[in-house]
Amino acid sequence: MTSPVTLPGMDGRHPSMLKLYDLVHRAASANVSALIVGETGTGKELVARALHELSHARDGEFVDINCAAFPEGTFEGELFGWEKGAFTGSVGSRAGLVEAADGGTLFLDEICSMPLHLQAKLLRVIEERKYRPLGASTKRRSNFRVVAAASMSPGRMLSEGKIRADLLYRLAVVKLEIPPLRERGADVDRLARHFATDCCGGVQLCECLLDGMRDHPWPGNVRELKAAIQRLALTSDGDPVCREAWTDGPSAQSVPGRADVETLECILEQHGWDIKAAAKTLGISRTTLYKRIRKLRIKRPGIEAESVFN
Ligand SMILES: Nc1ncnc2c1ncn2[C@@H]1O[C@H](COP(=O)(O)OP(=O)(O)OP(=O)(O)O)[C@@H](O)[C@H]1O
Ligand SMILES: [Mg+2]
Repeated sequence: MTSPVTLPGMDGRHPSMLKLYDLVHRAASANVSALIVGETGTGKELVARALHELSHARDGEFVDINCAAFPEGTFEGELFGWEKGAFTGSVGSRAGLVEAADGGTLFLDEICSMPLHLQAKLLRVIEERKYRPLGASTKRRSNFRVVAAASMSPGRMLSEGKIRADLLYRLAVVKLEIPPLRERGADVDRLARHFATDCCGGVQLCECLLDGMRDHPWPGNVRELKAAIQRLALTSDGDPVCREAWTDGPSAQSVPGRADVETLECILEQHGWDIKAAAKTLGISRTTLYKRIRKLRIKRPGIEAESVFN
């Protein structure tokens, strides 16, 4: 059985995440509508799937609809289906996504991209648990749980006119806010190690890399971190991956001095202070490495700097 403080497929132990996991468990068993809010890549889809897996609807389908993916003209038909002859060219009838979600979960991702007139129809379907396929004379029943996701705050959705207030209030019986990765502290290390083990063959990550990653703003959130680890694993030659290798993150030159010192110390330690090998890892000449060591006044533990490097 899943522990109450975890969610399937999700790692992270920051207090804000533990609170979120707890709320997801409560919401799942209460079987109410939910609105998930979070920046891109924070894990909204994972949370939506967890809500489904932990709910009574788990034996039904999880119907994932990206509201931004449908052209306005075809969205209604995709949602509610149609009868034969409903429109020019409709030679047969077709079931809609609302029907497929019967007994399961209808996940409306990027709800703000749903046209407002369709939002009004959706609200009625949610209230009545009935829908009418295009061209049909009678309504049909579908009992599904609605979960919606958005990357902007409810206040902004309303002020920008992206969502009808009545639909928003109906959806946000439970509001699940996923914090951005930059606000999750040590979860950055934890997730980096998680991806290194889980999808990158257990590649080792150096402390200096994790230090740098903790300071990065991660505009793409967990997705960006996962991609960074995957890229680093691909270029790794089996040694622990250092910060210098993370060229698509903040460059070693642009971060404060302390981080430069730690990066170099870390690489030098790794190579037993073999300057030639460390320079090779860094992709710089031995002369450049010597200059950097002097400039940053890095000392080999227990030995005077000048005696080591002359
Ligand atoms: N807490 C987590 N633990 C492990 N993996 C995670 C976690 N959060 C997100 N991920 C991974 O990060 C990636 C992005 O997650 P997801 O697709 O759920 O984000 P999203 O908020 O729906 O993004 P978007 O707004 O772009 O649709 C996925 O590969 C997912 O598996
Ligand atoms: Mg998503």
